[in-house]
Amino acid sequence: MQKEAKNPILLPKKTIKKDSMNRIRILGGTPLNGHVNISGAKNAALPLLTVTLLTDEPVTLTNVPNLADIHTLLELLDQHGVEIDTALPTVTLRTRTLKSNVAPYDIVRRMRASFLVLGPLLARHGSAVVSLPGGCAIGTRPVDIHLMGLEKLGASIKLDGGYVHASAPSTGLRGADVSMPMISVGATENLMLAATLATGTTRLINAAREPEIIDLAKCLNAMGAKIEHAGTDTIIIEGVDSLHGVTHAVQPDRIETGTYAMAAAITRGELILDNTSLDLIPTVTSILEQAGMIFTPTENGFSARAGNLKGVDMMTEPFPGFSTDLQAQFMALMTSATGASMITETIFENRFMHVPELCRMGANITVHGSSALVRCGTPLKGAPVMATDIRASVSLVMAGLAAEGETIIDRIYHLDRGYESVENKLRQCGAHIERITGD
Ligand code: UD1
Repeated sequence: MQKEAKNPILLPKKTIKKDSMNRIRILGGTPLNGHVNISGAKNAALPLLTVTLLTDEPVTLTNVPNLADIHTLLELLDQHGVEIDTALPTVTLRTRTLKSNVAPYDIVRRMRASFLVLGPLLARHGSAVVSLPGGCAIGTRPVDIHLMGLEKLGASIKLDGGYVHASAPSTGLRGADVSMPMISVGATENLMLAATLATGTTRLINAAREPEIIDLAKCLNAMGAKIEHAGTDTIIIEGVDSLHGVTHAVQPDRIETGTYAMAAAITRGELILDNTSLDLIPTVTSILEQAGMIFTPTENGFSARAGNLKGVDMMTEPFPGFSTDLQAQFMALMTSATGASMITETIFENRFMHVPELCRMGANITVHGSSALVRCGTPLKGAPVMATDIRASVSLVMAGLAAEGETIIDRIYHLDRGYESVENKLRQCGAHIERITGD
């Protein structure tokens, strides 16, 4: 991974305006071949950055990806008073004193994961005022489970003016059994963070089992927390009085891993993915193998290529199921197979926005409620298309790489939220891809 000089925090607010003019141009039809270095996981790094709010000692994270979402969270932590030293992929944070317990709308609306400061602020500083994140393009995405869980830990919660006003009892949060009505990654993380400093035992029942939850538990335990059974559906947290500093390496990004594996297959090339592991995507690889992909473990990761690709059905599910964050990429891949594929989205209610864009490129996809039927095998042709969210945008990049002719993808600031150096990584493997600015 590229080292970056020590730099002040980038302010995405300013760059987004400029970046919104940026587009990506792809000349498709070249198979990808070569090595791709997988970055640290965005979805693991975001909750890990918030652990600084739980201790006054330094927290150093390595393998942090250089992404717009990471800079958004650093900007939020900065305004809370966290001292931040960024030399990506390493970030050192220290919260000696809290300057503000308010997480403002202006930052939280840009990225939902900002809501994860609520649990730690409440646990260590006793109160927090955090903007409600609101919905986003892929769905309404409420935070009711986060709030219900914190109330179970004794917090009093009021909603006012679009903000959550939360305060802990004067004796602090207290452990409790929290049964979550639906599996939520963010709520599990927020409650884990809060429960580490609560008095007594917390049991999180029907918890998310994503690898990012395990990474967060590992880091918190290395800081002195007592968390058991992370990665199962019941996490047990014995509260402790205080946490100390830590140095922790962020795990590899399993979504980036799955994305590049499918990019190799859609272009009928072969990529060797370094600094990652097939163990991070067990169900994804099993479904992709059924579809004809071939994976071979290497010393430091694995290689991925297409065999004779055929359509298979797939349904998104919480981990260990097939991740919703790989659904759009899987759909792009299926357009290049033979037969048909029924793709069912069960996590978010509006996560098919890439469908009309893929259809503009020649795909034959029909949406019926939460399922999309891909009639495979219609060759893709380059076209101007528009990115609508992080994963939709990369599915269009994949489609553009496989398509005949030129694809121009607009609104690629979504891509910069989740994919580090995507053009460079692809170019090194033979892709004809460039970023263009203005008209
Ligand atoms: C995280 C990931 C995101 C991924 C998603 C599902 C991060 C930063 N983001 O998002 O990339 O797509 O998991 O794997 O890690 N829900 C409620 N009430 C709540 C919380 C969630 O109804 O209080 C619903 C959501 O609307 C959604 C489902 O639960 O339908 C799952 O959402 P959740 O797991 O919470 O997603 P995030 O943590 O926001």
